[in-house]
Amino acid sequence: MSQAPQTLDIHHGDNLPIIQGMEDGSFDLIYIDPPFNTGKVQKRTQLKTVRDAEGDRTGFQGERYRSIKLGSKAYVDAFDDYLGFLEPRLIESHRLLKPTGSFFFHIDYREVHYCKVLLDSIFGRSNFLNEIIWAYDYGARATKRWSPKHDTILWYAKDAESYTYRFDDIDRIPYMAPDLVGPEKAARGKTPTDVWWNTIVSPNGKEKTGYPTQKPLAIINRIVRVHSNPGDRLLDFFAGSGTLGESALRLGRSAVLVDSNVEAMEVMARRLSFAAPRWFGFTPSDTASPSSACESLFAQ
Ligand SMILES: C[S@@+](CC[C@H](N)C(=O)[O-])C[C@H]1O[C@@H](n2cnc3c(N)ncnc32)[C@H](O)[C@@H]1O
Repeated sequence: MSQAPQTLDIHHGDNLPIIQGMEDGSFDLIYIDPPFNTGKVQKRTQLKTVRDAEGDRTGFQGERYRSIKLGSKAYVDAFDDYLGFLEPRLIESHRLLKPTGSFFFHIDYREVHYCKVLLDSIFGRSNFLNEIIWAYDYGARATKRWSPKHDTILWYAKDAESYTYRFDDIDRIPYMAPDLVGPEKAARGKTPTDVWWNTIVSPNGKEKTGYPTQKPLAIINRIVRVHSNPGDRLLDFFAGSGTLGESALRLGRSAVLVDSNVEAMEVMARRLSFAAPRWFGFTPSDTASPSSACESLFAQ
């Protein structure tokens, strides 16, 4: 069967109404990296999800559910109600995935536990497959506690009995003690565990787009290669600098990206012009051309 031609669609605007307009089961892989900014006193709504035939949404195994607010607590973050902001977007993610699709949720270590409970209620606890720790070792060290140097990426399958996992496409990493495993194994390397060591995007390296929360292509490439097939359709509705889009298009997949920030649109226009994106709600300036940094990466 011949593959559909690759496409890249980029939407500007609040992601919720945009993804609400997308078709059920139309994506093979969804990766999101929602914003998390510390520094402002905010309020957190505690949610509990209960099974209820009259509930307002369908969840795991077709059961009806409704969320009950348990109360609110003051806390420090950029959103008035972070879980309340995320919940409808996570419900849409579940709806938009194909039956063999996977959802990757990239989050700060301070928020991950609350989000995991919410995600379990939407995807079903049994469809949770991995908590991936992206560990980096960059920047200043704390002197009064262990330096926090990791992000968490939660992986849920729509159905843990049937999902894409391309084991042979996993990149291999060196053994810690190659002398103990023999030359053949040492040369081949081993598959990574659920702890992924990778440096952050270097502030003066080639990969840098200038977008402050840009994630490393190596991390996203591993997710795209292993959790989707060539020709598949991928979605990132907190797209930022468009890392998921670059990875998808370079690896033979199609992508749909959404972001509400004009700066993100401008960065993506420069970074992704090689893929001739279709724009929705934004018109890139004629001067947007592939940055030399991105071009040199694509040549690798
Ligand atoms: C952490 S950044 C994503 C960075 C991205 N993974 C990358 O590698 O560049 C989060 C993004 O979400 C966008 N965002 C926040 N709220 C949004 C909303 N309601 N709709 C669409 N985008 C939103 C922000 O503009 C920001 O670009």
